[in-house]
Amino acid sequence: YATVIEPFRIKTVEPLYTYTRKQRKDFLRDADYNLFKLSSENVTLDFLTDSGTGAMSANQWGAMMIGDESYAGSPSFVRFEQAVKHLFPFKHVLPTHQGRAAEKVLFSALGGKGRVVPNNTHFDTTRAHVEASGAEALDLIVTFESTSQKHPFKGNMDVDALRSLLEGPRGKDVPCVMLTVTNNSAGGQPVSLENMKLVSELAHAHGKPLIMDACRFAENAFFIQRREPGQRDRSIEDIVRDMASLCDGMTMSAKKDGLANIGGWLAINDDKLAASCREQLILTEGYTTYGGLAGRDLDAIAVGLQEVVQEPYLEYRIRTIDYFGKALIARGIPCVEPLGGHAIYLDASRMLPSMPRKQLPGHSVACALYVEGGIRACEIGTLMFGGAAKNELVRMAIPRRMYTQSHVDYAIEVCERVAALARRGSLPGYKIVEQPPSLRHFSAKLRPF
Ligand code: F0G
Repeated sequence: YATVIEPFRIKTVEPLYTYTRKQRKDFLRDADYNLFKLSSENVTLDFLTDSGTGAMSANQWGAMMIGDESYAGSPSFVRFEQAVKHLFPFKHVLPTHQGRAAEKVLFSALGGKGRVVPNNTHFDTTRAHVEASGAEALDLIVTFESTSQKHPFKGNMDVDALRSLLEGPRGKDVPCVMLTVTNNSAGGQPVSLENMKLVSELAHAHGKPLIMDACRFAENAFFIQRREPGQRDRSIEDIVRDMASLCDGMTMSAKKDGLANIGGWLAINDDKLAASCREQLILTEGYTTYGGLAGRDLDAIAVGLQEVVQEPYLEYRIRTIDYFGKALIARGIPCVEPLGGHAIYLDASRMLPSMPRKQLPGHSVACALYVEGGIRACEIGTLMFGGAAKNELVRMAIPRRMYTQSHVDYAIEVCERVAALARRGSLPGYKIVEQPPSLRHFSAKLRPF
């Protein structure tokens, strides 16, 4: 059948609230026109992030009941470690409270002044930890002419740029090479196995470890299975193990493809590096068998890792994004293409071509999605990055296993109305009236023009 059904049925439900347009306008004004400051109870569809927001399965909730809360030597850790090593056979697995904690621990050992860390694209927290250590974070993504140019693996690293870096005068300053799969900051685009192989060979030829930021590893493996020649008959698990075998370690946020509400880990092969990271882990996260998590969280992740590599789940997951995005494109609404794994990225500069960037077109579209339909999305543009913003995008990230097709159908209608208002020139620009010195998008106060 052509219909891909949600591969689950629903046992526990939470209410979704809807409000009038007038009420939402008031909520937005009271939140200083900053969507991060809205109460989630006043949001109908929350597409702010796919991180930690998904629904856990009955098996995960069941596993939480057998979580062992011992400070040291908990069997929950053993189950967690086995589940991680089943997919990622790295020698040392260090649990952390989320992905950014794994990054902090890793770069406390590998970072430092004068060093430079290449990545296809650093996620914000990865960049922040590299830079906080004193090192430089370098994005070496393959460049494309436009956000709509098609390519099956638009998240790939620019191998020639990496070669120039490693062979050049700064090559000696590179402590490791990183690859982010899928490439979140570049539109949730996947990285091919072929690209990973080339990056791995190049890094190893220069004696550098390759570390994977594996947050959305299962979505990436699904794209490899469906798009890369010769991969269609292979299982997701095999592809994931191939990805791991090309790397020397990984950082992970279990809030994405761990299917858990919290958690993460750092895994590495090198004994010396692992010993140094363990010391830092104990200082800032917790003892090595819990790393800032409850035993029950470790059990939830152990089960989540078995569920996330199931093909019916991934097929439903990727099809949801595809169904949503294709409907928008068919209605002439500009999106980053090809569609990625975890989110739809609206291209606000094409929706509002005559609005100056300093009037925050992405934020204008994001606010309109909320006012018109109670949808909370996230601007990724000038509000978030200031003058360094490459594009004016609005990310609608889809939580895992949480919304059904009719939720998506409703979201499509809301986007259509917002696009019509944008075409008519009826969406206001915004100005920032108060902002903190860094990470301004989280707390800035804004006003419409
Ligand atoms: N790396 C990537 C690629 C991410 O997308 C994130 C989080 C992290 C690392 C950090 O993980 O949140 O567990 O500390 N991304 C979320 C998002 C916040 O909305 O895209 P964390």
